[in-house]
Amino acid sequence: MGKVVPATEENIKLGAKLLAEGRLVAFPTETVYGLGAVFCLEQAVARIFEVKRRPFFDPLIVHVASKEEVFLLWREVPREVEVLLSRFWPGPLTLVLPRKETVPDIVTAGLDTVAVRIPAHPVALKLIQYCGFPIAAPSANLFGHVSPTQAKDVEEDLGDEVDLILDGGVTSVGVESTILLFREGDFYLLRPGGVAVELIEELLGRKVILRRGFSGPTLAPGMLKTHYAPRVPLYIFEGAVEELGRVNLENIVVLSPFPPSFSGDMVFVLSEKGDLKEVAFRLFAALRELERKRVKKALAIPVPEVGLGRAIMDRLKKASRGVARLVDGELVFVESK
Ligand code: TXA
Ligand code: MG
Repeated sequence: MGKVVPATEENIKLGAKLLAEGRLVAFPTETVYGLGAVFCLEQAVARIFEVKRRPFFDPLIVHVASKEEVFLLWREVPREVEVLLSRFWPGPLTLVLPRKETVPDIVTAGLDTVAVRIPAHPVALKLIQYCGFPIAAPSANLFGHVSPTQAKDVEEDLGDEVDLILDGGVTSVGVESTILLFREGDFYLLRPGGVAVELIEELLGRKVILRRGFSGPTLAPGMLKTHYAPRVPLYIFEGAVEELGRVNLENIVVLSPFPPSFSGDMVFVLSEKGDLKEVAFRLFAALRELERKRVKKALAIPVPEVGLGRAIMDRLKKASRGVARLVDGELVFVESK
């Protein structure tokens, strides 16, 4: 039997059985595909790190199917956190809170907190329910590579080493969850993602502290400068988009969040309507497509850093080598990493 199987009822049950036996199963969530192991089976969790070539200092998110299960993981749920969970779960929001002793060190990289979310995807939810345990799962890509939004992406990165890949089609959100740390009464943004920070602030009636100003011990690898990097040199364009129409773009693919005023074979439009949801949905697939086509160089047109745009720009910056600017009508590429 192949590794990739359709996410039928029967195969989800098979996946749950494999997980319970300590094997690794990749599964779809609404954000990206995850590579799962039962959270308390330490050897299985250790294999996640091996398979992904992920450093052990990089903690995992634990996925649950119901709010009751968080009591296996967190010491308590503060009232304001409860407000967030009631509104955004199931969904692309991960909360980081002090953990219980039941959570092994390997899951949290020795931190005294654990990251938890309920994914909004029927396959993920059934898998967790049938298995009967919370599932620790990072994105199912090789460490540092673009996150997978479809089963074939997982197969390409990890195919030989995963025990089963449940194919549930293309993921609907396309970027990973928003990660919030709650500490001493404040919320810190560790990673922008599928839930816009503005929505969280509106619900809480106060500001979330942006990661930039946070120098606590909690290192989220999202903080590493190159992460999600495609194997294609990508640069973020700084300047007036119209002017690109007058430039020689030979051998350069332009990744644009909206249809630009110029056209060409090399323009890859992420959303005909310039809709940020659609841009997020297509972004990682587009980056992987550039790799498959062995594109030599790509230029990304930025979006405003508000709403989902914050997550999109975060991923683009991490995927890029630097910026490109127009100087005397010529494109100049400036490497910053
Ligand atoms: O949408 C998602 O969140 C996907 C799907 C599969 O759920 N998962 C995902 O996991 O993106 P991963 O491992 O690729 O990214 C998880 C991030 C890492 O940057 C990690 O450092 C951070 O979560 N993280 C996990 N536990 C943490 C903790 N206790 N404190 C701070 N950051 C934590
Ligand atoms: Mg990841």
